[in-house]
Amino acid sequence: MDFKNQLENYRLRAEKALNIWMPQATELPHRLHKAMRYSLEAGGKRLRPILVLATFDLNPSHLDPEPAAAAIEALHTYTLIHDDLPCMDDSDLRRGKPTCHKQFDEATALLAGDGLLTEAFYLLARAYKHSPSVAVALIETLGDNAGSRKLIGGQQEDTLGEMQGNDEHRLNFIHQNKTAALLTACVKMGALLGDSSSHIEHADVLGYNLGMAFQIIDDILDATADTATLGKTAGLDEKNNTLTFPKLYGIEESRKRASHHTKSAIDSAKALGGERSTFLVELILSMEHRIN
Ligand code: IPE
Ligand code: IPE
Ligand code: MG
Ligand code: MG
Ligand code: MG
Repeated sequence: MDFKNQLENYRLRAEKALNIWMPQATELPHRLHKAMRYSLEAGGKRLRPILVLATFDLNPSHLDPEPAAAAIEALHTYTLIHDDLPCMDDSDLRRGKPTCHKQFDEATALLAGDGLLTEAFYLLARAYKHSPSVAVALIETLGDNAGSRKLIGGQQEDTLGEMQGNDEHRLNFIHQNKTAALLTACVKMGALLGDSSSHIEHADVLGYNLGMAFQIIDDILDATADTATLGKTAGLDEKNNTLTFPKLYGIEESRKRASHHTKSAIDSAKALGGERSTFLVELILSMEHRIN
């Protein structure tokens, strides 16, 4: 199968799993579940669940990676809903649609995020309880990377923006934690579900480098692309005084750094998957050259 078809195949599997495992909009309370589904179904690249499925396929086992893929996308969507709130980045557009708090209201958006975060862990426990050691390892990996020491900690530092100084160390901390940590969780969870546990150290390096490249490109796009192409409000980093790579190094140097991290991520993908890493390598490359 060529790259495009494989990508589409993974995306459809991720969306099917979300549909099966997340609460239906018809369940009570309707407004809350409608808001959760609204943000989940708005689309997006589905990079994180695709990473889980593709890493699993490097060394597949008898387990089903789809619930884990859905759990990660639910958690990611919660981070976006909360990231867009007026007290955070204050954004009106997400995935080509009004943000959750614009479409509903702030309280509902806050609760929809809470709901998706909690559902993610509930789903891991429910879907993998018959393989308890796998369930615990998945929950531990996601809890570690999405917790206050990593993802949420990165978001906390991000909200302080330039106020705390513009240095390389802070910027690396923010990007490594707010973005790379969750991508690391995806690769690790895919590897844990499959039979790649003996090469798990490559997953860490892959996730770190892919995440750094991904957030540097996100920063470049925020500064250079238009809102319609992005499907989210462009130029907010400047407006919010967010510390970014383009701000510290300029666009050209930022691109060089993204390219360097991309190359390192590809090396790790090859170390992790050998002959089977072709899709993952193309996926990593496509993220460097994306337009939204
Ligand atoms: C946006 O993530 C948040 C960042 C970490 C930059 P994505 O760019 O993956 O957003 P979706 O899922 O495609 O909407
Ligand atoms: C958000 O980073 C990262 C998380 C949501 C954890 P950004 O604030 O740059 O993401 P966008 O640009 O709004 O998607
Ligand atoms: Mg933000
Ligand atoms: Mg934002
Ligand atoms: Mg951004």
